[in-house]
Amino acid sequence: MSPLRLAILISGRGSNMQALIKACKRPDFPARPVLVLANRPDAGGLDLARLAGIETALIDHRTYKGDRAAFEADMHTLLEARSVDLIALAGFMRILTPFFVEKWQGRMINIHPSLLPRYPGLNTHERALAAGDRVAGCTVHWVSEGVDEGDIVLQGQVPVLPDDTAESLQNRVLQAEHELYPAALEKAAQQILSQKAED
Ligand code: GRF
Repeated sequence: MSPLRLAILISGRGSNMQALIKACKRPDFPARPVLVLANRPDAGGLDLARLAGIETALIDHRTYKGDRAAFEADMHTLLEARSVDLIALAGFMRILTPFFVEKWQGRMINIHPSLLPRYPGLNTHERALAAGDRVAGCTVHWVSEGVDEGDIVLQGQVPVLPDDTAESLQNRVLQAEHELYPAALEKAAQQILSQKAED
C-alpha cells in the first residue's frame, strides 16, 4: 500500500518536525510529508521545511481575531485539498475545538513533553521537578477532545538528575522526543494502513 500523506502542524522551531521529515526518508516508511502548516509567520520550522523541499503554508490564527471556527475550517479545507491522511502536531500551540478534532479523529497524533497522564498542559518540566520525580519523559498520543488526553501511542523515559534545572531536563526530554516521535508516527501510520486494508 502507498505511504500515508502526512501533514505536520507547527508553531515554532520545528525540531520534532525535522525528526519526522528525516524518518520519512526511509524508503519503507509508511508516511511521507506533503505539507507543513504553521499558525505563526515566525515559526522557524517553516524555513527548514522549505529547505527540505516540502510544501509549506501559513494560516495565521491572529488574522481570525478569535474566530476559532473559521481558522480551523480554513486549515481543514487546505488539509483536505492536499488529500492528507494523517496529521502530526509537532509543537502546535493552539487548542483545537471539537469540530476539528472530530474531523481528524483517529488520524491525528500529538507529542507532549511529559509522561501522560502526569502533567498535561504547560510547564511540564517545572512540575516534574517540583514533584521530585526521578523519571520524566514524553508521550505521543492520539488527539481527542480533552487536552493531552487521547490514547497513548508510545512513551519514552529519561532520568531526572539531582542537579537538573527545568532547562536541562527539557533538553534531555527533547532528545528523547526526537527518537520517540518517528517511532510513534510509524506505529500510528501502520495502524491506519492495516485498518484501511481491512475495510
Ligand atoms: C516539544 O517539546 C513538544 O513536545 C511540545 O512543544 C515542543 C516543540 O518543539 N509540544 P519543536 O518545535 O519540535 O522543536
